[in-house]
Amino acid sequence: MSDSSDIFQAVVEGRRSLRAFEPEPIEPALLERIFNVAQRAPSNCNTQPWNVHVASGAVLEKLRTEIPERFMGGDISMDFPYDGVYDGVYKERQHGAAVALYDAVGVTREDKAGRHTQFMRNFTFFDAPHVAFLFLPEPFGLREAADLGMYAQTLMLTLTSHGLGSCPQTALSFQANFVREVLGVPETDKLVFGISFGRPVADAPANGCQTDRADLATAINFHQ
Ligand SMILES: Cc1cc2nc3c(=O)[nH]c(=O)nc-3n(C[C@H](O)[C@H](O)[C@H](O)COP(=O)(O)O)c2cc1C
Repeated sequence: MSDSSDIFQAVVEGRRSLRAFEPEPIEPALLERIFNVAQRAPSNCNTQPWNVHVASGAVLEKLRTEIPERFMGGDISMDFPYDGVYDGVYKERQHGAAVALYDAVGVTREDKAGRHTQFMRNFTFFDAPHVAFLFLPEPFGLREAADLGMYAQTLMLTLTSHGLGSCPQTALSFQANFVREVLGVPETDKLVFGISFGRPVADAPANGCQTDRADLATAINFHQ
């Protein structure tokens, strides 16, 4: 019988970004339980600056149909600037993550059409039955965005602990205005990113994507 630290480690190590979901929705009682646990995330002065909108059913289908069309039509409205350009070791890691995904789905570096198709799957939420859109109320900034990150990881680990999967997606912030309009979110709530989630497709190639991490010595400095 594992003790709680072993169980927790297994949950942390079991979470990966998954990119193929079964379409069946999660039962409402389980959804409520999961989001109640996620509410326990810490935040600066317990301000809990996350306004979360979960889209499912017909609302999600509207987004799934219209977001790709709008993106291809050049409609991009982001609340926070993002150019996706990294340098040095960060560029190497970004490249490593892309290689891991494209290798998993069998798309080669030369296959531009294949890469585009895989990228566009962001906007159909990898077929997930639910998407949580994470908004930060004005005038919050960097400090409260860190709180949002803590919320997101708590939510994703909770999903993992229930055998469910998730993918955090900056791509889901590309059409903030449209998402706000469809979900009835006030202009003062700014969209940071979205998380697609649901039951993972067990044998989907995309879900075989494994990323590595830098050695401890590269990232952590112990002082005494
Ligand atoms: C805030 C955030 C935004 C992300 N945006 C995307 C995205 O738009 N599309 C995508 O496929 N993956 C996205 N990812 C997933 C990362 O690529 C992934 O977390 C990273 O490669 C590490 O892999 P792992 O999550 O499987 O451990 C995002 C992750 C985070 C934390």
